[in-house]
Amino acid sequence: MGIFNCVFGVIVLVNMIASEGKYGLANGLSMNYYIMACPFADGIIKNTVNRALQSDPTLAAALVRMHFHDCFVEGCDGSVLIDSTKDNTAEKDSPANLSLRGYEIIDAAKDALERQCPGVVSCADILAMAARDAVFFAGGPVYEIPKGRKDGRRSKIEDTINLPAPTLNSSELIRMFGQRGFTAQEMVALSGGHTLGTARCSSFKSRLSNFDSTHDMDPSMDTQFARTLSKTCSAGDKAEQPFDSTRNTFDNDYFNALQRKAGVLFSDQTLFASPRTRGIVNAYAMNMAMFFFDFQQAMVKMGMMDVKEGSKGEVRNNCRVIN
Ligand code: HEM
Repeated sequence: MGIFNCVFGVIVLVNMIASEGKYGLANGLSMNYYIMACPFADGIIKNTVNRALQSDPTLAAALVRMHFHDCFVEGCDGSVLIDSTKDNTAEKDSPANLSLRGYEIIDAAKDALERQCPGVVSCADILAMAARDAVFFAGGPVYEIPKGRKDGRRSKIEDTINLPAPTLNSSELIRMFGQRGFTAQEMVALSGGHTLGTARCSSFKSRLSNFDSTHDMDPSMDTQFARTLSKTCSAGDKAEQPFDSTRNTFDNDYFNALQRKAGVLFSDQTLFASPRTRGIVNAYAMNMAMFFFDFQQAMVKMGMMDVKEGSKGEVRNNCRVIN
């Protein structure tokens, strides 16, 4: 037993060092960050997420999107979770974030963690782990992420200008993600996050009339699908259209939809319309394992964007309020 434990311990240690080497961790992040101070952090978060998603599976999409919107604005520092105050309008009140949901899941996980190990686990880490667990819950790849992000002390509505708009074309998306260190292939893989969830009519109605000087409707769209979108919009700006036929399942159907010219957002369909990214869409539509592999690698990378170190951040007591 003693020898077994010892060998097992060495294997675990070697694995951790190997995975940290693979991702070249910087910024004080590590795979086993909470192993001493909060050893059950992973399990507590997973349980909270699973319980919430069992009663509402649409929240998987919400958590994945929230993590993306956190990381692309001021880095993955939980800034999207902060509530506005009378002196400050926070990120979450920007138009791009008004349809974010799932804040109560992060609050519930934080409450449970504070009871076990007060002041240890950051809100930014909770969100990153919750997004990871949501992907797996929905049938996507299982992946491990480095932890140790600190929570930021800034959350300003004007910073959300850094979020991509659904009107961007492939070249603009490549440029925008490129500025953050992502390749075109990583951008397409991350866009595959749209295998989950829905968009509201307000996000795609500009494709349906007065599209540009020569077209009334966006010509990159299948005409039958354009009718589907128009029908959705007849119920108003807030009416929702699923990105693919399996909105709560993490699979590669989103890429099949793009091949059929049935992408919901202009920024989705442009990935197939443009020769710069079409090959990647075709590859992911044909090979789900390839999409899963690239998605999880890109999510780990996204989760390390502009992470706050040491005194540049804090561990919030309440995810909605700066300490
Ligand atoms: C490539 C640039 C991207 C653009 C322009 C974009 C834009 C959008 C828009 C406009 C919506 C619908 C919002 C609404 O109408 O309520 C949406 C939803 C969503 N986005 Fe993105 N997004 C992008 C990338 C990503 C990435 C990288 C991820 C995650 C890895 C992601 C995950 C999601 C998810 C899961 C939803 C559905 C949310 C729900 O159903 O609650 N998106 N996105």
